[in-house]
Amino acid sequence: MDLDGFDPNRMPRHVACVMDGNGRWATKRGLPRTEGHRAGEEALFDAAQGALELGVRYFTVYAFSTENWRRPAEEVRFLLEVIADRLLTRRRDELHALGVRIRFIGRRDWRVPRWVLRRMDEAAALTAANEALTLTVAFNYGGRAEIVDAVRSIVASGMPASKVDERAIARHLYDPSVPDPDLVIRTSGEFRISNFLIWELAYSELVFSEVLWPDFRREHLFEAVREYQARDRRFGSAAAHEGIPG
Ligand code: IPE
Ligand code: IPE
Ligand code: MG
Repeated sequence: MDLDGFDPNRMPRHVACVMDGNGRWATKRGLPRTEGHRAGEEALFDAAQGALELGVRYFTVYAFSTENWRRPAEEVRFLLEVIADRLLTRRRDELHALGVRIRFIGRRDWRVPRWVLRRMDEAAALTAANEALTLTVAFNYGGRAEIVDAVRSIVASGMPASKVDERAIARHLYDPSVPDPDLVIRTSGEFRISNFLIWELAYSELVFSEVLWPDFRREHLFEAVREYQARDRRFGSAAAHEGIPG
């Protein structure tokens, strides 16, 4: 890949992505919505390869939200199949060969079929020692549910209230080993977060793309990273180029 135009010192360590627009992509083509989900799998694989090329260390994708159970049962079943059958079975070995470590965040509750949980565990176990890229699939994931679960686990641990601080909460999130996202991308021209990583993205740079997820390719990821590199991250401090007055 031509890495010209990228500042290697300002590569985002963690990129997270709301993969949105599958349904509209299909409807525009006169196809059932499920065809959009099927096509979205190729987009995810290409984007993951792009993340590897850039040297991004963590790539997190929103695959199924705690709210997506509200969809028709047939669409839900198809989504589970795309994730568990195609991504976690067919693509699993390709991702493994590329050195990708697959992980999951989300609730493992009664709504997730056992066979899906089994595929998730198998993919995670197979790829556990890989180091090139950590691909985290947010499945049955909700940002508020994650915070609720963190609070429950803190309370269950018996921690006194005075000891509960931001670090304690961060340590009880689903995967404390993953750093906060530097860059969050949402496709399909929607300008919202939809309950994705709401604790973790407090200081993330947000990039919104008009591209519908099934059309997303690594070039779109590169474009978003270019935009990210042109931003000035301040974390509440004075602008770097202004200096401190007085
Ligand atoms: C994203 O595409 C996939 C999931 C939310 C699981 P959508 O299915 O939301 O597609 P649109 O937003 O209806 O076009
Ligand atoms: C967010 O997309 C969830 C995923 C991409 C998995 P949605 O399509 O569910 O979000 P809303 O309904 O537009 O907010
Ligand atoms: Mg959507």
